[in-house]
Parts: sequence; C-alpha cells; structure tokens
Amino acid sequence: MPVPVEFTLAHIKQHSSADSGIYSEFLDSREPFRSMFKNNPWLIPPDIRKPLSQAKGDYWQTTVGRKHEYWEKIDLPQPTRDINRLRTDLFEWGYCLIRDGLSSKQCKVFLDRLMDQAAAERRAGVQQQTPSGQYINSLVNKGACFALCIEQHPDGVQAGPLIEQLLNETLGPGWICHSFLANGADPGGYPQGLHIDQGPLLPWQTLEAPALVNTMFIPQDIDDQNGGTLVIPASHRVMAEAGSGGAIGELPPAINLEAAAGTIMLFDGRLLHGTGVNRSASQRFVATMSNVKSWMRQQENWIISVHPEVLSAASPKLLHRMGMQALTYGATVEGFGLGASGRVNDHWGALKQFRTALDEGSYIRVGELSMDSPAEKLDQNFTVKLVRKLAHKAEKVVVK
Ligand SMILES: [Fe+2]
Repeated sequence: MPVPVEFTLAHIKQHSSADSGIYSEFLDSREPFRSMFKNNPWLIPPDIRKPLSQAKGDYWQTTVGRKHEYWEKIDLPQPTRDINRLRTDLFEWGYCLIRDGLSSKQCKVFLDRLMDQAAAERRAGVQQQTPSGQYINSLVNKGACFALCIEQHPDGVQAGPLIEQLLNETLGPGWICHSFLANGADPGGYPQGLHIDQGPLLPWQTLEAPALVNTMFIPQDIDDQNGGTLVIPASHRVMAEAGSGGAIGELPPAINLEAAAGTIMLFDGRLLHGTGVNRSASQRFVATMSNVKSWMRQQENWIISVHPEVLSAASPKLLHRMGMQALTYGATVEGFGLGASGRVNDHWGALKQFRTALDEGSYIRVGELSMDSPAEKLDQNFTVKLVRKLAHKAEKVVVK
C-alpha cells in the first residue's frame, strides 16, 4: 500500500504557507528585538567586518552612571553589603553590586588563576577568541577557586551565603548553575550586542520574576576605559512590561559599569547588557556564572565537560550545581531520576555513576531486548541497574 498522500512532504508543503502555523505570528515575531532596533537604532550592534565606529550616540560610546548626563542625578545601584539595598537594587534596577563579594585574597587567587590560564590557553592554541575578547570556558576544570565559587562556598567567595539567599529568593530553591566562564574584553575589541541572558526563552517573557540570574565576578577594577560591562538600568522592567511577544519603545541610554575588584554583580536575566569596549592597553576579564531553575537545560554541558579529577573530588553540592542531580523534569538517564527531587544528596537522581562508567568505558545501556535474547545478553551488568542498587544502598545508610 502506498503512503497516504496527506503524509507526503509535497502535500504538507503545499498546505503550509508561512502564515498558516497556528502560533506562527507569535513564534516568528522576533520580539522584543525587532521593535527595540526599530525604535532605538543606536542599539544596532556594530558590523565586525568594519572598523568600529566612533560616532557619538552608539550604545558603546558611553560612560559610567555618575558621569552620564542622563543618569548622573539618579540613584543607581552602588556597591554595598546591605542585603536590603541589594534586594531593592536587583528588583528596581535589574542588577545589584555586592561590595567585597570576594575578599582581597580570594580576588587575587581568582585573577592570577584567570590570567595564567588565559596566557596558557593562547600558548596551547586552544583559546576561544570572540570579537570582544578571549573567553575562558569551563572554569570548573581550571582551578579549585572556581569550583568553590560555583558552590558559593565562603572559602572561595566570602559573600557566598548572601548570594545564595538572594538567588533562593529570586529563582526559588534548587536552582543550578547554567555555566561559569570568563569573558575578556581585549584592547581594540568590539562591544557585544546588548542582549538578555534569558533570551533562549524568547518570545516568551517572564513577567513576575526572572528565569535566570547571573552572578558576575569582577576580579579587577572596571570602568568606562577598560570595557566595563554595558547595561541599561531597569531594562528588565521594560521587558516584563512588554510581555511575551510584546514591543519595546524608546529606551534610556546604556552605561558602563563601574566597580572595584572583588565586587560581584547579580543581574536579572531580563536586563539588557553586553561587554563594553576596552580602550585601555591591557586585557580585562570578568567571569559570568548564570543560574537557572533546576529543570532547565544548562548552557554548559558539564556532564560531558567536567574533568574526571574534578568529578571525583566534587562535593554533593558541586555535583548538584553542575546538573548532575536529575529530577522528574530534567536530566534523567535511562529513566533514572524520574520521581527524584533534584536536590542535593537525593540518591535517586545522582548521575555521577553514569559519567564514571562512561569514563571507565564500562557503561552498558539497556538496548533492544527480547525474550528470545540469550541469557548473557539479559544478565549483563546494566549500568542503570547498578546505579539503582547504589541508590538503594545509600538510602539505607541514610535511614540508619
Ligand atoms: Fe550576557
């Protein structure tokens, strides 16, 4: 029997015009960026095939808030340790600045490690060069200080407990780490296009709260000279008010962030921001660690990328932050994790053993089986069976 004509590609194509999709108008809206560029042409990113324009008015031709004619009299977020001020700033302006989030010692360890790693990656020919500058990816593998930061451990980041409190309040408990990488602004580099970090959700917007919050570690002084991150204060509000698929009107100007080494910026996933232009003679780094709900797909695929040594030494908390704790709606492996809470130390979602089996070359997946299969095929040491056994055992230990 031939395949019914309605199922053929030619027929489907003939009956599917660009506007026949039931949600096409929404999904193809390209909002909020379509209206944003239309109503704010100064926000159009530069053409990186051409020399960078120095024309006044472009979003990268700006300065810090206290020197900006539009913003200078406005009480924008200032570095502080006052948790209530931090809450208000994050809510009202879409970002807040934690003063001395890294102690001077932590900051030095962090920056020295970054700079040495950056130089060595260039030497090894593995650096990732972007139009703005060099990136250093997968920081978890590149120094113990970075793993401590992912855990928000006070030994690596003295403001860790405060950061966790603010993230619990913003993302809800159980959030995990989306990625942790260092973003360079190299002398002569281009600015990043202004964007929102929860862009993958677009054209959906989250109105009441962000779905992603970034924690940006600032290990060296940043300002309008060395490419301090560009932000449009309170733009998260504009995004929320526009709503899903909604249009953006005229926006206020961008500023360069100004902060001393050791500051940590928390910013809302709906805030417009991007790397600034570095007009100094030296390379400048910040490191961005974004965080998302526990079921969301992560930017960094840690399950593959984490180094075996880091994995074997990882605390339960670090494993959780890297998404190695499955739950019903995320990261299950062969069904393992369905019904799990996705919280630290839930043995029924612990994925580490699967990765260890992969590393050892001993991972046995359940494939096509039949009652006619030979006994040796049915009696294999399937990894999922082993992992379930381990979970049972661990549960018993905990119950005792
Ligand atoms: Fe970003």
